[in-house]
Amino acid sequence: MSLDWIASPGRPLRGEVTVPGDKSISHRAIMLAAIADGSSRITGFLEGEDTRATARIFAQLGVRIEAPNPSERIVHGVGMHGLRASDAPLDCGNAGTGMRLLTGLLAGQGFASVLVGDASLSKRPMARVIEPLTRMQAKIAAEAGGLPPLRIHASNDMQGIDFEQPVASAQVKSAVLLAGLYAQGETRVHEPHPTRDYTERMLRAFGWPIDFSPGQARLSGGHRLQATDVSVPADFSSAAFFLVAASVIPGSELLIRRVGMNPRRTGLLAALRLMGADITKEYPGEQGGEAVADLRVRHASLRGITVPEQLVPDMIDEFPALFVAAALAEGRTVVTGAAELRVKESDRIATMARGLAALGAKIEETPDGAIIEGGRLQGGQADSHGDHRIAMSLAIAAQRAAGPVRIGDCDNVATSFPGFVELARSCGFALETAASR
Ligand code: S3P
Repeated sequence: MSLDWIASPGRPLRGEVTVPGDKSISHRAIMLAAIADGSSRITGFLEGEDTRATARIFAQLGVRIEAPNPSERIVHGVGMHGLRASDAPLDCGNAGTGMRLLTGLLAGQGFASVLVGDASLSKRPMARVIEPLTRMQAKIAAEAGGLPPLRIHASNDMQGIDFEQPVASAQVKSAVLLAGLYAQGETRVHEPHPTRDYTERMLRAFGWPIDFSPGQARLSGGHRLQATDVSVPADFSSAAFFLVAASVIPGSELLIRRVGMNPRRTGLLAALRLMGADITKEYPGEQGGEAVADLRVRHASLRGITVPEQLVPDMIDEFPALFVAAALAEGRTVVTGAAELRVKESDRIATMARGLAALGAKIEETPDGAIIEGGRLQGGQADSHGDHRIAMSLAIAAQRAAGPVRIGDCDNVATSFPGFVELARSCGFALETAASR
């Protein structure tokens, strides 16, 4: 049975929140620790469905993983060639990051694997990883249109490539780099716009020689990874919902603690500041080699903006929340250059346009973005289409609606943000769960 949310006009948000660990880093930490020599302790691990699916897959491939508590994993690495075939398909659940990175990592193994996903993941494009990996001599079969399930055949003769990436995607870059670990010679990746560099940073932390700078990475195959401990900072993408919520709810002031501030993730901060948001960084520091800070956000009157296209890759997961800020701002917001939103967990341009329109917002879809006229929202019914970030964004919109909003199909919030409802309520959200009708 699936879960709906009933979100109602709320009161000012107050207090302090700590959001769960970073999803991108948690996936990568399990993967690299699994093929390292020795045991690695991961703290701050995201205990979400997506990252648990990745951990389960490595257990199927013969890696022993302990969970002394929900936000900790001890991974007993099996070394570069210690993974073992699984008879059963490897289920990535809802996770595009899991499936795309695993495709790269498994492409150069001496055994075959089958990767499957849920209904949403089964509709997401995989040709973007299959194409470069095939050039590296991987043998991967997909369903028509390059869709999962993916059948990865054994390959012992992967070759490095010089890859000019057509789309800015950290998942594609990471798949190619992980395949490059098992390839002969050098693998180079050039991106059209720099994306999150967690794979590169973590490979270096595990001792693999790698050269990288924004937009480029280069490594050679044939080395080994040494176990290391990973401390995962809080996920900026989860903090984003509280940044927007406190910005749009009058009287709010929230402190969001120790948030990961990698510049390839924090584009929303720049966009919200252009809109007039009042967000300050406090106690900047470092955690596990990543920049972190406390973020203090106070309510402010937001104005519509044209979102600078160069910010798009740095806020690619934050557009559902940004659309809500825009719908409640004064004036028009224009988003362009964001066609990638159409191939996320849902078509996020279409699902947000439908969801906000159901609440009375004026929003027009364009092929690569949207035009949103700020105004008032009313109560009603909206559907998340099983997309975690759409559900949480609509819950924020509801805090400023004139009446309650029923949001359909919210189970998948557990993929990235277990405990969202409780945490949101603890700082003032009016949010209830109900069995789906
Ligand atoms: C991610 C990269 C991005 C992002 C996703 C996580 C990653 O996807 O949207 O949530 O961990 O590498 P793309 O590579 O498709 O842009």
